[in-house]
Amino acid sequence: MPSVLSGTLSYVKNFLKDQDVAAIAPSSSFLVRRVCKWIDFDEDQVIVEYGPGNGVFSEFMLDHMRPESTLLLVESNPDFVETLEEMTRDDPRAVVVEDRAEHIVDILDAHGIEEVDSIVSGIPFSFLDPDTKHNLLARTRDVLAEDGKFLVYQNYNHMEAPLRDHFSEVTKEYEPRNIPPTMFAYEARK
Ligand SMILES: C[S@@+](CC[C@H](N)C(=O)[O-])C[C@H]1O[C@@H](n2cnc3c(N)ncnc32)[C@H](O)[C@@H]1O
Repeated sequence: MPSVLSGTLSYVKNFLKDQDVAAIAPSSSFLVRRVCKWIDFDEDQVIVEYGPGNGVFSEFMLDHMRPESTLLLVESNPDFVETLEEMTRDDPRAVVVEDRAEHIVDILDAHGIEEVDSIVSGIPFSFLDPDTKHNLLARTRDVLAEDGKFLVYQNYNHMEAPLRDHFSEVTKEYEPRNIPPTMFAYEARK
């Protein structure tokens, strides 16, 4: 795992080249713990992460997941994909895919995964046009198990309404200990 300084430098570098990176620093450990407390690590889990970046959430989840669990990392930025491949090289539970979250149905098909227990997402939903956002939320809901969870963190509270349109139960929390200090975390259930 990169140090805090090298992790932040890689964000700044990728942020300048790729607007979808949408952050100048990785998420804080406070935000990671706030979101991941909603995952039941005592059970075998199939977890998908949209937009893992340099892997702050991925590393925490791999540290807490059981040996039979799976973590599928879907990242669109090739530099972050390289970092994630390096980070997970010796861990058979992790699969890194260079692709966009919008293609989740095909990605799961290609990996023989029928349903997902938890999906963690840090992709910038505010950059997606309304149709793409709606389709991604609908597909995400479809691929989740009946008791599955969509766990989202996002700047400002603009995801609450779209999540409530697609999911029956949405819990929201604010996490100020992050750069920037404007992060909301959501647990959305089917
Ligand atoms: C705000 S950063 C969050 C990174 C990391 N999860 C963290 O919390 O530090 C957003 C990440 O999502 C990736 N990304 C943006 N749009 C994406 C998409 N449609 N599909 C997959 N990854 C995407 C970016 O390349 C970037 O790594």
